[in-house]
Amino acid sequence: MKYYIGVDLGTSAVKLLLMDQNGTVINIVSREYPLYFPHPGWSEQKPEDWWEQTKEGIRQLVESVDKKQVAGISFGGQMHGLVILDEEDQVIRPAILWNDGRTGKQTDYLNQEIGKETLSKYTANIAFAGFTAPKILWVKENEPENFSRICKIMLPKDYLAYRLTGVHCCDYSDASGMLLLDVQHKCWSREMLEICGIKEEQMPTLFESYEKVGNLKPEVAQELGLSENCIVAAGAGDNAAAAVGTGTVGDGQCNVSLGTSGTVFISSREFGVDPNNALHAFAHSDGHYHLMGCILSAASCNKWWMDEIIGTEDYGKEQESIVKLGENHVFFLPYLMGERSPHNDPNARGTFIGMTMDTSRTDMTQAVLEGVAFAIRDSFEIAKSLGIQIERTKICGGGAKSPLWRRIIANVLNIKVDRIASEEGPALGGAMLAAVADGTFTSVEDAAGKIVRIIETIDPEPELAKKYDRQYQKFAKIYPEVKELYTELA
Ligand code: XUL
Repeated sequence: MKYYIGVDLGTSAVKLLLMDQNGTVINIVSREYPLYFPHPGWSEQKPEDWWEQTKEGIRQLVESVDKKQVAGISFGGQMHGLVILDEEDQVIRPAILWNDGRTGKQTDYLNQEIGKETLSKYTANIAFAGFTAPKILWVKENEPENFSRICKIMLPKDYLAYRLTGVHCCDYSDASGMLLLDVQHKCWSREMLEICGIKEEQMPTLFESYEKVGNLKPEVAQELGLSENCIVAAGAGDNAAAAVGTGTVGDGQCNVSLGTSGTVFISSREFGVDPNNALHAFAHSDGHYHLMGCILSAASCNKWWMDEIIGTEDYGKEQESIVKLGENHVFFLPYLMGERSPHNDPNARGTFIGMTMDTSRTDMTQAVLEGVAFAIRDSFEIAKSLGIQIERTKICGGGAKSPLWRRIIANVLNIKVDRIASEEGPALGGAMLAAVADGTFTSVEDAAGKIVRIIETIDPEPELAKKYDRQYQKFAKIYPEVKELYTELA
């Protein structure tokens, strides 16, 4: 029997999944590491922490199987984070993450001085504060000494691949979120590299997500007890990997992810761009393309509300008291880390509005779940306005474990929501990409067809969907009214 490891390098933890060659999940391990907020709106992590916890996670993951039969490892990784290495391949500074909002000035420069049309021509996308290119400009302007030492630029999961194999690699799906890739033609954009003051030698080698980048380094294989024949495949950005893990491959499939971030992911065989660039136009890990909207805080809003504000560990019990769906007088804008899609506003902040003397803790808990669903609908509406017809979606991520939240999503979006046997989207997708690279499946679609299983479908309820439609129209009016205030308060 062969085994494959999927590594989901997340923001709060690394989740590792062991799958056998038939697609059966054998074991799942999760290991946390710190997240640093050195200033409000900044967000950093140490690549060394990722590596240490990944190694420890792999050791735990394979304890009960013959380690020499682990044939491949691959990844789904938090996207956009800037990892920079010096000429000795040492990490120069902590990684600046996808939900870091420090690059307002650089993002404005790119969108206004270089211009959105030009950026879109070069990369199929415009600048968002969390993307990698504005971060490179930030380091250039604010830490010139660090900038001058950069020998290699990479994304978070690529640092793990590098430590495992010694190869500087990146896949097209994750590279799409750097604003340095010509997404349509799948090559680095010379123009964008020049705008950022970097050279192609500083960039990693590009692969399809399901391609082998190398074998484990002998010393790493020995340390982990794995075989030197174990291959490492390039892997994907976490959303593209989650799409594989939920079977969102090929044409016109949709996946909603409720992780630290929240995303709407629409797969497409053809390359296409949202004319307003509100949705990202990225490469997919199945060899094709996708459109995606991303909100920066999704399940993290609920975690913040439960852990930090009301102080409870029992999320399920807290949600049991929610009964009046679609009638809440409280609204929550989930912009705890600023917002990406569709507002592109690092100054936006979390906001409750509409409380009265009879507002209860339950109403506010409900508003948090609904606010995230409404923010996801913002991206969904854009997809609809492009003529994309979505009748059903898969769902994954930590938030998808809540039956109530799944029901709210089905009714706010007014589509069927399919639940998959495994909620571990990116980790399962990572393992599947490794299995494709190893030849166990002929393609990513082949793997998805054989492995992914729908276990439940949540249908929208016509009356409730109507109520939520009215609620969404109210929600959509709030941000434009407070937008200026966020800028003033920043
Ligand atoms: C996608 C994005 C997030 C992160 C979360 O564009 O920024 O979904 O990948 O890990």
